[in-house]
Amino acid sequence: MADFEPVTKAVVPAAGLGTRFLPATKATPKEMLPIVDKPAIQYVVEEAAAAGLLDVLMVTGRNKRSIEDHFDVAYELEDALRAKGDEERLSQVQEPVDLATMHFVRQGEPRGLGHAVLCAKQHVGHEPFACLLGDDLIDARDPLLKRMIEVRGTYGGSVVALMEVPEEQVSLYGVATISPTSEDDVVRVTDLVEKPPAGQAPSNWAVIGRYVIDPAVFEVLEKTPPGRGGEIQLTDALRTLAGRSTAEGGTVHGVLFRGRRYDTGNKLEYLQTVVQFAAERPDLAPEFMPWLRQFLDGHAQAR
Ligand code: G1P
Repeated sequence: MADFEPVTKAVVPAAGLGTRFLPATKATPKEMLPIVDKPAIQYVVEEAAAAGLLDVLMVTGRNKRSIEDHFDVAYELEDALRAKGDEERLSQVQEPVDLATMHFVRQGEPRGLGHAVLCAKQHVGHEPFACLLGDDLIDARDPLLKRMIEVRGTYGGSVVALMEVPEEQVSLYGVATISPTSEDDVVRVTDLVEKPPAGQAPSNWAVIGRYVIDPAVFEVLEKTPPGRGGEIQLTDALRTLAGRSTAEGGTVHGVLFRGRRYDTGNKLEYLQTVVQFAAERPDLAPEFMPWLRQFLDGHAQAR
């Protein structure tokens, strides 16, 4: 490894309004919606911790207090469970508290992902950091972030995670122009475009919600004008960094991810994620899977 500074901090933007899940998200942050019985955001913090990032900054907004509570000690609940001798639930309640040191900052105005990342400037300082978007869950068996941190250690600069998506989906993502490196799973990113219209994407390699970012991004974000959707886009700032040398905080590399990713950002994929996670749960699958099969058979016959 070259001698680039180690990555120790994670930034998790969690200030979105969650409009796709209304009315559920009227008073509950979308990050707290459960995947079976664990809020989606806990998986994200678990992933950061598993990659050695024990300092997690959440960028939140109004109505997000339950996220803070989730990662804090719940004395009354713990006392009640302790009194009942329910050790298993007690440890489930304590688990999120022990994962990492949590910090919170508020975004104020929702001015886009780039702006959310800019809110982390003071906390992050001059170190490279990881950024994890809560809508994307990465299967713990396919560690991506660790590899991205390794790639940052080798090449410096910033690192994005890229996944090949079908043509009709490119307009939902940041899309990269890439060129090969000597490593099979690593590419140089020479250009990036946020949510290109169908037919105009430079490739099918989409940026998914994991980043390792050079602190030079802050100075770039401060000068990045609103882009697609009138929002300050992280993709646009990374595009600027892709055109710079390492000495100027630049170069962007991509790790090609071929593992399991679950999108919880829209209703259909959220439902699919819940079913997939339930299918892997030893306490639920033995009853859930035969029921699901029967349900689908019955459904097919009824049509
Ligand atoms: C954001 C980014 C986009 C990226 C995507 C990954 O978009 O702006 O570049 O591809 O996350 O999930 P969002 O899904 O928040 O609209």
